[in-house]
Amino acid sequence: MSERKVFSIPLTRVAPLPQKSLDNAMNVLASGQLFRYGETRADGQFVAQLETAFAAYHGKKYAICVNSGGGAITLALRCAGVSSGDTVLLNAFTLAPVPGSLANIGCSIELVEITENLIVDLDHLASQIEAHRPKAFLLSHMRGHFGNMEEVANLCRKHDVLLIEDCAHTLGARWDGRLLGTFGIAGCFSLQTYKQINAGEGGVILTDDDHLAAKAVLMSGSYELHQQHGCIPPTDLLNHYSPTIPNFSMRLNELSAAVALPQLEDLEQRNASWRAVYAAIESGLNGVSCLRLPSHSSAVELAPTSIQFIIKKPREDIETFVAHCAKRGVMLKWFGASSPKGFTSVHRHWKYIEPQSLEATNRTLSGLCDLRLPSTLTPEDCRLLCEIMIEELQALDA
Ligand SMILES: Cc1ncc(COP(=O)(O)O)c(C=O)c1O
Repeated sequence: MSERKVFSIPLTRVAPLPQKSLDNAMNVLASGQLFRYGETRADGQFVAQLETAFAAYHGKKYAICVNSGGGAITLALRCAGVSSGDTVLLNAFTLAPVPGSLANIGCSIELVEITENLIVDLDHLASQIEAHRPKAFLLSHMRGHFGNMEEVANLCRKHDVLLIEDCAHTLGARWDGRLLGTFGIAGCFSLQTYKQINAGEGGVILTDDDHLAAKAVLMSGSYELHQQHGCIPPTDLLNHYSPTIPNFSMRLNELSAAVALPQLEDLEQRNASWRAVYAAIESGLNGVSCLRLPSHSSAVELAPTSIQFIIKKPREDIETFVAHCAKRGVMLKWFGASSPKGFTSVHRHWKYIEPQSLEATNRTLSGLCDLRLPSTLTPEDCRLLCEIMIEELQALDA
């Protein structure tokens, strides 16, 4: 029997930070100024610069940096006016920090089915809006998948439902040429290590709304130093909200912003590398009989840091497939596992939500596998990854 090949590059390895990030970090460390605000300083800080650059990249008025992606979602919802008595809709394919943000506020959560292409089911969204009259729809672009954003935005507008986008996996992705995060009242981004921009931890709220921005600046914990922000909401609004908005201390620190800023400058180029890796794996797996890749509208431009596919096999076979791939260095995550393992928890694991019957979502998640894609993979690496996965699928039938 020929020797079975093994994939030797750790798929969880992230790319080294660019030299400019290292230089910025050294400057911050040498200065000792790791806090985003200075008592007398008025400009030049990295968090403020990141806010200005982030807002400009998206063509939006405000970007407010905070401590995490989950923090960005919580603050955006609160500052948009969502509170504990409200109902919020959430698409059912998402990650634990997203319903966690809603639980943090204390609102009740109603889930919306996803389609077999991992995007929100618009018919179910419409019927959930009718049934629950929600205050907001939190649309999580989980693993970077999304559908017709115009239709989603129109539906929400028609029913007076606030649309908040979770863009943790879609920084630089576009629907019909328009960047994600710009379709609702706010877009929320993560700067956690495995995202398009790696600051270790961090989050950004993007909005055009003066009121939301003023509240978010205050709530993030600005200590009356909001004039040091990159995008400063109107002073009369800051003064108006200041006495009633609590300080939740959810700031981003200078070091994280210092390493993030140069990565925003390189974003388009890095996303192009990620798209090439995604396309190579997608074409390598295309046509494999027991495997289905999600399809996307031609208006979708992904910003993929991972790839997903659905295995049409019984659970035991999928378990074997995942275990055998792991032995050969191909670390897959499986959303159908009975208990969550590293970033794969799904709605049935969140016991703080009333159980909801989501047959279509469950069907899709039961076979859903996920492969992280370092942007540095070569075409040869991609070929080997596909070869190993295809061999292990074929072995199930042998
Ligand atoms: C889809 C999604 N949304 C939100 C978040 C929250 O981001 P953070 O880890 O920065 O809180 C994550 C984290 O991985 C995520 O995967």
